[in-house]
Amino acid sequence: MNHVEPLDTHHKRLAFTSGNEVLDRYLHEIAYQAKRKSLAAIFVAVGEDDPATILGYYTLSTYTIEGLDIPAVLRTTRKLPSHRVGATLLGRLAVAMHVRHKGIGELLLIDALKQAHEASRTVASTCVVVDAIDEAIILYYERFGFVRVAPDSRRLVLMMETIAQLFSHGVHTTAATSHERRDRLRGKPRAASW
Ligand SMILES: CC(C)(COP(=O)(O)OP(=O)(O)OC[C@H]1O[C@@H](n2cnc3c(N)ncnc32)[C@H](O)[C@@H]1OP(=O)(O)O)[C@@H](O)C(=O)NCCC(=O)NCCS
Repeated sequence: MNHVEPLDTHHKRLAFTSGNEVLDRYLHEIAYQAKRKSLAAIFVAVGEDDPATILGYYTLSTYTIEGLDIPAVLRTTRKLPSHRVGATLLGRLAVAMHVRHKGIGELLLIDALKQAHEASRTVASTCVVVDAIDEAIILYYERFGFVRVAPDSRRLVLMMETIAQLFSHGVHTTAATSHERRDRLRGKPRAASW
């Protein structure tokens, strides 16, 4: 079974290939330093049988977002201020080419939301923010409930309150392809509260 853990020295960073040069270079050259300097928290997916091979990774950092940049429907229902508010940035997400379409992206994304939610209990954060690398990937995030901040923007947000509801309904992150979890997430209609 695959699971997610913090990046460490035994992980084979240089062998990772997602097909995206920028995301690969980050893991090869920058990630470990970024972790050491507390610029980002980096988590990797690995398999039980080969715990050093990185199947995918994501990064999280503290962030701020203008309240006004949160879509009005989400901001006004929560009466959020228009000035800068705390948020969590999902800075990078990538899965190795040879294990694509096996649910590892989903495993990583759900784990990232769980980490962000847990951290927000001690350091408050209004939402998780992601800047989609291209138009196609926006759909991927929308299926998990992320909402575009504007029709012409590649930035998406998922409110922490919504993430909290997700985990209070018992979404687990240990299995790579839990059909129950997949159905729950993908079947969930995109509601204004997301
Ligand atoms: C996006 C990414 C993380 C998904 O990882 P994955 O493990 O293959 O994804 P999952 O198995 O959880 O989900 C697969 C589904 O996601 C969707 N999907 C995957 N990649 C996609 C893409 N680039 N654009 C749109 N949808 C995509 C497809 O519907 C796919 O369904 P299918 O398997 O029935 O074809 C991976 O494709 C990747 O690393 N891409 C390159 C880097 C990247 O674009 N990162 C996002 C940065 S914002």
